[in-house]
Amino acid sequence: AFEPRVFSGVQPTGNLHLGNYLGAISRFVPLQDQMPTIYCVVDLHAITVWQEPEVLTRTIREVTAAYLAAGIDPKKSIIFNQSQVKEHAELAWIFNCIARMGWLKRMTQFKDKAGKNQENASVGLFAYPNLMAADILAYRATHVPVGEDQKQHLELTRDIAQKFNNDYAERIKELGLGIPNPEPNPELPDELYLPLTEPMIAGSATRIMSLRDGTKKMSKSDPSDLSRINLTDDADAIAKKIKKAKTDPEPLPGEVKGLEERPEADNLVGIYAALADMTKQDVLNEYGGQQFSAFKPALSELAVTKLAPMNEEMKRLTQDPGTIDAVLKDGAERAAAIAEPVLHDMRRILGF
Ligand code: ADP
Ligand code: NA
Repeated sequence: AFEPRVFSGVQPTGNLHLGNYLGAISRFVPLQDQMPTIYCVVDLHAITVWQEPEVLTRTIREVTAAYLAAGIDPKKSIIFNQSQVKEHAELAWIFNCIARMGWLKRMTQFKDKAGKNQENASVGLFAYPNLMAADILAYRATHVPVGEDQKQHLELTRDIAQKFNNDYAERIKELGLGIPNPEPNPELPDELYLPLTEPMIAGSATRIMSLRDGTKKMSKSDPSDLSRINLTDDADAIAKKIKKAKTDPEPLPGEVKGLEERPEADNLVGIYAALADMTKQDVLNEYGGQQFSAFKPALSELAVTKLAPMNEEMKRLTQDPGTIDAVLKDGAERAAAIAEPVLHDMRRILGF
């Protein structure tokens, strides 16, 4: 069977926010004690849209600092920067030749990010999911903790692995590189080279929405700073943004069902639940019947308590770029030691 291994990444595109923390980074930490874990700063993804070079250098270190401040331990996990391990780009090219145009045309994130002017989007933005599949499969990772927004990309990763395993089935067998398929099914050969990676998507509370519009996800690229809580925000900024968060005039309901059709209320209750590690119903048992004027200060206090120590640690770490760069360098060497033999085999499978 494939050895269990976790891979995940965050883009160094500035404005790391509460959604990145609750949907991804905070969940990376406990996995370190369960299986080998690889956490990447995905700078090659970042340049699918324009990045100022000096800013990119700073935000690469900032994401690394966030990983460390959140509790990812470089002794337990591999922490590295995507561009420093060349196998990512090489495998992405191979996958450009495996994935079909029609598969990529269905990706909703491209449509969201490219907007109306698709003709002017970079080719990289369109092919982004192939690079993401390469990130994961260069390590033959079996598990990927991500936010719900990445579910479609994970399905594409499985489709790519499945097509590769099928197209090269005989070759994989001949070269003795196959691993028995752990979930035999008639659409797949009985031996695989690439695993069918599982997404690890936590409950609905980790699709964190914008504080200004409960129908849009909280995002780094939202032009309104009031729409998100940044991991670099201090206590005053957090309190101000929660105070200004859009809500409706009704008090909180007593039951989760009462949050339906109330996206802003649902989002704030979900954020509270995720930060406190409670269910939404637990939160409503405590705050049901109360107005937002009472709930918002409680939410601010909780958010500040949870985020302040991390904020302090990120500040301390970013003042010491040498330490961060050393962590990334060591991580890149350890990552390459896994990815190089995988690409070596894949070249043989392809016939190079
Ligand atoms: P963004 O989408 O803000 O540009 P990334 O693409 O770098 O951020 O995503 C990093 C991780 O954070 C991914 O696992 C993604 O699913 C998660 N994530 C991003 N936004 C949210 C959100 N609003 N709620 C939950 N998880 C999120
Ligand atoms: Na994303």
